[in-house]
Amino acid sequence: MESRSCQHDLQALGLTEWTFRSDGPFSGALRPGPGLRQRPKPAADMAQIAGSGSSADRDKEAPHEPETIKASAEGAPAKFKAPMQGPRAADEDGPGPDLSGMDWAALESYLAGCDHRGAARPVFGVGARAGDVLIVGEAPGANEDQQGVPFVGRAGKLLDRMLFAIGCSREHNVYITNICKFRPPDNRDPTAAEVAADWPILERQIELMAPRLVVALGRVAAQTLLDSKEPLGKLRGRMHRYPQRELDVLVTYHPAYLLRSPQQKARAWDDLRMIARCIGDLES
Ligand code: URA
Repeated sequence: MESRSCQHDLQALGLTEWTFRSDGPFSGALRPGPGLRQRPKPAADMAQIAGSGSSADRDKEAPHEPETIKASAEGAPAKFKAPMQGPRAADEDGPGPDLSGMDWAALESYLAGCDHRGAARPVFGVGARAGDVLIVGEAPGANEDQQGVPFVGRAGKLLDRMLFAIGCSREHNVYITNICKFRPPDNRDPTAAEVAADWPILERQIELMAPRLVVALGRVAAQTLLDSKEPLGKLRGRMHRYPQRELDVLVTYHPAYLLRSPQQKARAWDDLRMIARCIGDLES
């Protein structure tokens, strides 16, 4: 029943073609959808919007995802050898770097000076820093590592189409970043140490942006942001409260997973409608 009404919505909006297809209705240049407040954007934000890549994507999320973040012990300090409790595990070693006084530019330069962990370049984030919605993925893949911009491969194109379907875009009202700012070697899952190392950057991004809604894409982003070990299936499709902050977090599927499991798109569409409703509520 639920999926039939979703299907109806999908058809009404032409979203049965909501796939990565070069000839689909969303294959042309993306335009901002109607009805959303569009705050004036600083020129610097717009300068960060890059074109899209085309080849292999970071394609991490298997249909049967493992239930917790894998804390790979290899190369990690002893404190990370146990499965992580969330990135706040880094606190065991005392406070991390104090990024609290940093503005966007200082934070980005700080990241550029961090150990790249074998990656070509940092991938800081892209989009509307004054927007309402922050989208958080897992970690850069090969395309992102090349371009220094998150979600520019196939999954990124799908993400753009999903956002477009609810009147959102990185050009106008969404900022996109990842839990990890450097591509993990060989596209493997980020280790707990890598997540912990990059966590202060994401936290400062959240402080600076002060979004109204955070959307966690996939298991790694969801478990990290919510400091949870719950499987994605339990976290997905619900609003959560970001620990210690007045902030809603919605968990949904990672677009790379949707590329491989298109049968889940109806559920993802339900999640998108929640985002649209949430933004609508903020505006009314
Ligand atoms: N997958 C992610 O999680 N992040 C990206 O930036 C690209 C693909």
